[in-house]
Amino acid sequence: MRVGVLGAGSIGCYVGGRLVAAGTDVTFVGRQRVVDELAEHGMTLSDRRGTVAVAVTDLQVTTDDDVLAAADVVAVCVKSAQTPQAAEILARVLAPGAVVLSLQNGVRNVPVLRSALPGHTVLGAVVDFNVVARGDGAFHCGLDGALTIEEPVDRALVDALRRAGLTVRTTGAIAPAQWAKLLVNLNNAISALSDAPTRDLMARPGYRQVVAALLAEGIAVLRVAGIRPGRVRGVAPGLMLRVLRLPDPLARRLLAARLPADAQARSSMWEDLTRGRPTEVDHLNGEIVALARRSGVDAPVNRRIVELVHDAERAGRGSPALSPAELRAALRGR
Ligand SMILES: NC(=O)c1ccc[n+]([C@@H]2O[C@H](COP(=O)([O-])OP(=O)(O)OC[C@H]3O[C@@H](n4cnc5c(N)ncnc54)[C@H](OP(=O)(O)O)[C@@H]3O)[C@@H](O)[C@H]2O)c1
Repeated sequence: MRVGVLGAGSIGCYVGGRLVAAGTDVTFVGRQRVVDELAEHGMTLSDRRGTVAVAVTDLQVTTDDDVLAAADVVAVCVKSAQTPQAAEILARVLAPGAVVLSLQNGVRNVPVLRSALPGHTVLGAVVDFNVVARGDGAFHCGLDGALTIEEPVDRALVDALRRAGLTVRTTGAIAPAQWAKLLVNLNNAISALSDAPTRDLMARPGYRQVVAALLAEGIAVLRVAGIRPGRVRGVAPGLMLRVLRLPDPLARRLLAARLPADAQARSSMWEDLTRGRPTEVDHLNGEIVALARRSGVDAPVNRRIVELVHDAERAGRGSPALSPAELRAALRGR
C-alpha cells in the first residue's frame, strides 16, 4: 500500500512518519520549509512510550503534489481553510480507485472533499491524540488517544496504522464523533489565547470555567439544531461538562485521569497563533456560531472567543497570554 500525505505538518508528519518507521511506503507533500527541515534532520517522533527516529534517507518529501498520483490512499492533513485547495489538487492528480482520508478537525472537510472528488471514496476520521511540532524534524505526541476512521476502510490501511503503533478504531457513523470532537476542540481557542499547556487549562479553575462556558453553549446549540454528538474518549460531552464544573480537586483529578496530557501538549491553534499563521477558529468555535445563527439562537461566548482569536491573529504577536481573569473580562466585553 502506497500512502500519500497532503500537508506535511504536525499530524501529517507524525502519522506518516510512524507509518514509514513501520515499513509503509509514504510520500509527504509539504511546504519547501518542511522539505528543507526534514532533509536536514529526518524525523524524530516521540510520545510517552519513547522516541522513534526516521532517517533522512528513508523519507520521501516534496513540494510536488503530482507524486500523489501514485498513492493508493491520501491522508489530507492541511488546516480546514486549505481543504478547498487540497481538493482541487486531489481532483487533478488522484489515480482511479485512490481513497482519501481526512485526518482533520471540524465537520466541513469531508463534504468539501466529497463534492470535489465524486469518483473517489472519501473517509472521515477523528484524531484523539495531540501532536506539537518542536522544530528540527521533531514531532511530539503529548496526549495519547485513538484514531477513529469511518467505514468502509481498507483493512490493509488499518493494519498498517496499527503496526505503526496507533490505536485505530473504525465506525459506521463518523459525524457524531466529529461533532463531539468539535465540542472538545472549543478549548483550543483558550489554549491559544492563554498560552497555557492543555494540562494547565484543565488544572486551573479559572480556565476550566471558560472552557465549560464554551462547551455548555456548544452542547445547547447542537441540541437546538437537532444534532446528537457522540463520545470523545468514551465520554459524552454532557458528562464532560459536569466534570469541568465539579469542585477543584475532584475535577482536576478526574480530568487528569481522562486527559493525561504531558507538559508539552498544546492545541494546534496555539501553534498557529505562535507561528503567525491563520487559525482554524472559524471551523471550530465559528462552526457553533454559524450553527446557532442558522438555528435562530445566539452563541455569544463562542462568538466573542472567535473575535478574540481574530484580534490576536491580526496583532501578529503570538498568544496574548490572557490570564483567567483577563479572559473573563474580555468575555464580559462581548
Ligand atoms: N496537531 C494536532 O494535534 C491535531 C490533532 C487532531 C487533529 N488535527 C487536525 O489536523 C489538521 C492539520 O493540523 P496540523 O496541526 O497538522 O496542521 P499544520 O501543522 O499546520 O500542518 C499542515 C501543513 O500543511 C501545509 N499545507 C497546506 N496546504 C498545503 C499544500 N497545498 N501543499 C503542501 N502543504 C500544504 C501547511 O503549510 P502552511 O502552514 O504554509 O499553509 C502546514 O505545514 C487540522 O485540521 C487540525 O485541526 C491536529
